[in-house]
Amino acid sequence: MLAIQANGLQRAFKGGIKAVDGIDLSIEQGEIYGFLGPNGAGKTTTVRMLVTLLLPTGGSATVAGHDVAKEAGAVRRRIGVALQEAALDSLMTGNELMLLQATLQGMKTDAAKKRCSELIERVGLTDAGDRRVGGYSGGMKRRLDLAMALVHSPSVLFLDEPTTGLDPTSRFTLWQEVSRLREEGTTVFLTTQYLEEADQLADRVGIIADGKIVAEGTPEALKRESGANHIEVILLEGSDPTAATAALSSLGEPMEASGKHDVSIRLREPGIGVADAVRVLDDAGLEVAEIELVKPSLDDVFMEKTGHRLEGSGDGES
Ligand SMILES: Nc1ncnc2c1ncn2[C@@H]1O[C@H](COP(=O)(O)OP(=O)(O)OP(=O)(O)O)[C@@H](O)[C@H]1O
Ligand SMILES: [Mg+2]
Repeated sequence: MLAIQANGLQRAFKGGIKAVDGIDLSIEQGEIYGFLGPNGAGKTTTVRMLVTLLLPTGGSATVAGHDVAKEAGAVRRRIGVALQEAALDSLMTGNELMLLQATLQGMKTDAAKKRCSELIERVGLTDAGDRRVGGYSGGMKRRLDLAMALVHSPSVLFLDEPTTGLDPTSRFTLWQEVSRLREEGTTVFLTTQYLEEADQLADRVGIIADGKIVAEGTPEALKRESGANHIEVILLEGSDPTAATAALSSLGEPMEASGKHDVSIRLREPGIGVADAVRVLDDAGLEVAEIELVKPSLDDVFMEKTGHRLEGSGDGES
């Protein structure tokens, strides 16, 4: 049984906006699936349909084997959800909210208390557990939200942009927690605008743009597909870039050199590396100051599939 399956899933809103425009998903139990896309791509709308908060206007989906439209109750019992905008009662403490959640899930008091304190500990909130949530930082709220989503040990967990706006430390804590869920066999459907996050965490990535999945695969396969490695060279002063380009063209195709580099070559084969380039340059009597092998990133994949760079993709050179 697949953990998540969608066939031609669609959601249109008034005014004819097709927020989700016919997507197919096949996600295995235990898989970490990264749903990557820019603002307004349709990520939250997809999640809201899969967690039964919004009815599809076309197509169908099952989660944990149950139809999201016809068996919402059965779906809800098997999933955990941490939405993009966590609605936490700011007057309650972290511990109180956790216990409330456990009780709502039908857990007995003793079991609930044990589970809650375990989870609070796991997300690093033990010391803050008795403080009111109103005084929590953004990162603490996201961590509490995650702990609440895990109370009933769901088999499928949905995290909608769990790390947007978090500082690196909080982001890292969340990443660790997701890695731990992988070990426990929980399926995680995670949306993100961060390429690095999808690359680090996800077994498989789906890239969504304008309501459509434009690429899907393991991060490695997507990067491989999106193009060859290239080599960037800075020559020692006095070495002729034209001669270097000519020499290196035996290894691949010259590209427009970027920024500070004198020569860039798109490599013909994945087996070719820095050592080959150095040898070729050396044979031509050219001296190298710096040389680097550059592999394509998920951002390159995104660029290739959509024609633009992903917002918030970090501090890449432009
Ligand atoms: N309730 C709604 N009514 C009308 N349009 C909506 C509604 N919800 C979402 N949309 C539109 O659907 C599109 C997809 O929105 P969605 O929230 O799914 O994007 P997202 O990928 O989650 O973006 P973000 O990264 O900003 O959270 C957007 O154009 C949005 O304006
Ligand atoms: Mg969203």
